[in-house]
Amino acid sequence: MKNFYITTPIYYVNAKPHLGHAYTTIVADSLSRFHKTLGDNTMFLTGTDEHGDKIVKAAEKQGVSPKEFVDGISGLFQQLWPHLGIENDAFVRTTDEDHKARVQRFLQQVYDAGDIYFGEFGGHYCYGCERFYTEKELENGLCPQHLTKPEFISEKNYFFRMSKYLPWLREYIESHPDFIRPERYRNEVLSMLESGALEDLCISRPKSRLTWGIELPFDKDYVCYVWFDALLNYISALGWPDGEKYKTFWPGEHLVAKDILKPHAVFWPTMLKAAGLPVYQHLNVHGYWLVRDTKMSKSLGNVVEPLEMRQKYGLDAFRYFLLREMHFGSDASFSEEGMVSRINADLANDLGNLFSRVLSMTAKYFESRVPRPGEFSEDDKAIVELCATAMSNYIQLFGNTQFAQGLDSLWELVRALNKYVDSQAPWTLFKQGDTTRLGTVMYVLLSAMRKVALCLWAVMPDASRTLLEQLGQQPGEGPVTTSLEAEAGNFDGLQPGTEVAASSNLFPRIDVKALQQEDPAGKAPKAKKEKKQESPKAAPAAEGRNGEISFDQFKAVEMRAGTVVVAEKHPNADRILRLEIDFDEGQPRQILSGLADYYTPEELVGKQVIAVLNLAPRKIRGLMSNGMVLTAEKDGKLSVLTPAAPVPNGSQIA
Ligand code: ME8
Ligand code: MG
Repeated sequence: MKNFYITTPIYYVNAKPHLGHAYTTIVADSLSRFHKTLGDNTMFLTGTDEHGDKIVKAAEKQGVSPKEFVDGISGLFQQLWPHLGIENDAFVRTTDEDHKARVQRFLQQVYDAGDIYFGEFGGHYCYGCERFYTEKELENGLCPQHLTKPEFISEKNYFFRMSKYLPWLREYIESHPDFIRPERYRNEVLSMLESGALEDLCISRPKSRLTWGIELPFDKDYVCYVWFDALLNYISALGWPDGEKYKTFWPGEHLVAKDILKPHAVFWPTMLKAAGLPVYQHLNVHGYWLVRDTKMSKSLGNVVEPLEMRQKYGLDAFRYFLLREMHFGSDASFSEEGMVSRINADLANDLGNLFSRVLSMTAKYFESRVPRPGEFSEDDKAIVELCATAMSNYIQLFGNTQFAQGLDSLWELVRALNKYVDSQAPWTLFKQGDTTRLGTVMYVLLSAMRKVALCLWAVMPDASRTLLEQLGQQPGEGPVTTSLEAEAGNFDGLQPGTEVAASSNLFPRIDVKALQQEDPAGKAPKAKKEKKQESPKAAPAAEGRNGEISFDQFKAVEMRAGTVVVAEKHPNADRILRLEIDFDEGQPRQILSGLADYYTPEELVGKQVIAVLNLAPRKIRGLMSNGMVLTAEKDGKLSVLTPAAPVPNGSQIA
């Protein structure tokens, strides 16, 4: 059995939890559940960061003691998580006695090894900001925040000899390409290291300035700097140095947003190295949730309340949206409109509709019993194959923190199943009395639907359970009895004769008009009950008789303009070009395109093209393609589509 340990940042208790905190914690929960379905032994930690200046100030404002204050807000975090379906195995608080004792032990160990020294530190101190500024940070000698002249204070403090470990860190990152991922953050850290701006780390504060912290074991006049204390939560909560959990689960995986890249990518590994401990396996870094192009944050007053979203749209839909909408590593915009169109397109139209049609047909044609399949046709075999590919792509991408792409790969299967319903037309087979063929078609559908529901447990635990129950399964604690990988390797698992539900209406469409007319008190928008698609006539309408698609389906296709920055021949395929295209995503995106017969690489570099970005990534002859460049054909020759006038890279095509 493999061990899997995942952490979130421990959140500051100076403000209530919002969507940003919920996102990281939901991702951690999904990863933990995902690894459970792989059969791993998992441990999932979250918690609160409770020391430091900021907390003291916030407590003073409310006229309560720091301890009372932190108990209150830490409680809010702890109470929130179960409402978001989060099943953490432990919750750490930096004011726990146990944590404090272990931090002191760590400090003593590094001190005894000679990597903590006492030294004079001179800096420009701004009383407004309560922090030191370096010469470079000042603007015309003034504090950039307050435009006042800071006081030069020199103070004796303790320093961690971080600089000693920086060359090692650089080499470690260079030789472990996915230590920090996605790559753009790895590059950011490498350039931080190359810049030479990093020095030793001041890790103490004199008690004359701050008492709300962990006392240094070797000097009672000082407390520990809040980051040095906070980072140690990841091992103190495991009972470092001799706890069983520490021995089992360390080193683990961290999940953070880009705001706290430096402490996690530089301070933390050098601290571990100095103490002779193994460094974490991966630092997984995500971008920001934005609201109208600015970061959602308490200080900007634009926060989204996770509980409100849960109440309005349902927990499963909310969790699905967060994982599907944000490409891990890049920023994403949050809007309720965006959420509604995703829910309607992916959950109501695709997934919900599939379950609703297939279960009502099974009721009608087979009295809600899973039929015994006959011999598989080519069409059936194609579905079986797609099911295996979609699942194994899902497993690989999800495990690699590419949640959006993983889900999209699963949705390729969901959409293919809806098309299969249309093309096989069970209602016609029924009319013709072809029970054997009808049974086979229904079996293929039900069996593939079971696989989809199993995969979804990580993201939508309640919905997954309901869907499995509708398929006559008895999901236990976790839904998968064998492992998800084993499930991907076969098409079995659904016993003919199993009784299934007669109908399903898990994801009704959200009525956008009702949402717009909604009263400010925030009542749930009316979810229109989906019409049961029992009659053979109604069934094909779901996909549109003439191959029409709905507006939502069109909107689900993400097309953007971008500039080709690199073009070269695919090393293993003559007709394919490997392109790197800048869509203003922080780093260019690799897309493979069959353009080699029509363009030389030089002709394409610098050209703006239009591509579909939210196609499931595909491996073509050993290289990944993350999208599709749009082309038009004339006399068998392809030409790429390009905007009539240049537009900013990343512009959406609508
Ligand atoms: O930094 N988008 O705590 P913190 C995405 N105590 N994620 C967001 C977000 C947004 N707009 N806003 C917040 C601290 N987050 C330290 C951590 S760890 C040893 C100490 C999430 O309360 C995201 O995970 O400021 C981010 O890294 C974290 O909240 C910052 O939480
Ligand atoms: Mg913060």
